[in-house]
Amino acid sequence: MASMPVRVGVVGCGVISGAYLRILPTFEALEVVACADMQEERARARAAEFNVPKAGSVVDLLADPEVDLVLNLTTPQAHAEVGLAALEAGKHVYNEKPLAVSREDGRRMVELARAQNLLLGGAPDTFMGVGIQTVRKLLDDGAIGAPIAATAFMTNHGHESWHPDPAFYYQAGGGPMFDMGPYYLTALVALLGPVRRVTGSARISFAERTITSQPKAGTSIAVEVPTHVAGVLDFECGAVATIITSFDVWAANLPRIELYGAAGTLSVPDPNTFGGPVRIYAAEEGAWREVPLTHGYAANSRGIGVADMAYALRSGRPHRASGDLTYHVLDIMHAFHEASEQGRHVMLSSTCARPTALPLGLAEGQLDP
Ligand SMILES: NC(=O)c1ccc[n+]([C@@H]2O[C@H](COP(=O)([O-])OP(=O)(O)OC[C@H]3O[C@@H](n4cnc5c(N)ncnc54)[C@H](O)[C@@H]3O)[C@@H](O)[C@H]2O)c1
Repeated sequence: MASMPVRVGVVGCGVISGAYLRILPTFEALEVVACADMQEERARARAAEFNVPKAGSVVDLLADPEVDLVLNLTTPQAHAEVGLAALEAGKHVYNEKPLAVSREDGRRMVELARAQNLLLGGAPDTFMGVGIQTVRKLLDDGAIGAPIAATAFMTNHGHESWHPDPAFYYQAGGGPMFDMGPYYLTALVALLGPVRRVTGSARISFAERTITSQPKAGTSIAVEVPTHVAGVLDFECGAVATIITSFDVWAANLPRIELYGAAGTLSVPDPNTFGGPVRIYAAEEGAWREVPLTHGYAANSRGIGVADMAYALRSGRPHRASGDLTYHVLDIMHAFHEASEQGRHVMLSSTCARPTALPLGLAEGQLDP
């Protein structure tokens, strides 16, 4: 049984499914056996493109005894509905980000998975790429001493200039924090561990947005959620991080993520990618230098978190992109908005284990030595 591949069914065959279906077959621990979408022709098209044997409805996929794990790549509003249905059907589940829109739905998924003795996991898995794993090793080796603080910045001017249907970015479940925060927060938690409390301020800077991309150019969008979110996080390890996610900034010269330690600073690569560069400033050296990358998985490896779950299922070890981690990130994102509305610090009721570092020297397509 331990050597049998975990059989994966993909639900949601839109834009991002292509990236997953390209990478998943490179891992020997799993096999993609079925595709489904509420638009069944999309499932059939992806199945044909990537040689997946079965394609059709979500109901059929969930009833299929040959599917062990459901990879849920639907849009955020459907994450809970599809994820819960898959858990009810006895499948392990890996959701795209965010885990769910509401905390209640996220919690329901975590609890149901636990009650059913099933694994729950979720995106992003970029922290398993070479960039952040190299930073993790430097941090664990003491290269910058004890962590003191961190900064994380994601600024742009929204998605209405390029996305064909951008309204959802300005509705519940959207905004810069729910859209991009998961990459930054998951990276910070993977590096520094869980968060104890947060505070923040959030605002809607433009009440309306005008779409300039085709086919909806000229249509205006009423903005329902904050588009500039500034937060402060106190980690359980004692470090204090500052984060800004914004759709209201035309230009900036900010880093993506920096970690400040007692003996130096680490410049962390874009957490929406898997690669480098990684730079360090060691106080004793007195200058910045680029650090050679130490691990594998530099190219777009979206799906590595699903593969890691498959290894975990086979060996019984914990998986890294876990339900507890993705729920903790969802909780943090809600807490920033709550803190801003209520003018206070929000103590987090969730926590998670810091995912274990990847070992050195893994062969491509392997996640365990
Ligand atoms: N597009 C990207 O670059 C990108 C990158 C990273 C993460 N993501 C995440 O991936 C997810 C999907 O994004 P996308 O860009 O592929 O969206 P998409 O709209 O291109 O595809 C989503 C698919 O899900 C299907 N779907 C929606 N609700 C469903 C339901 N209830 N049952 C069955 N099928 C359903 C839709 O028919 C569609 O084919 C989102 O959570 C997004 O945050 C997207």
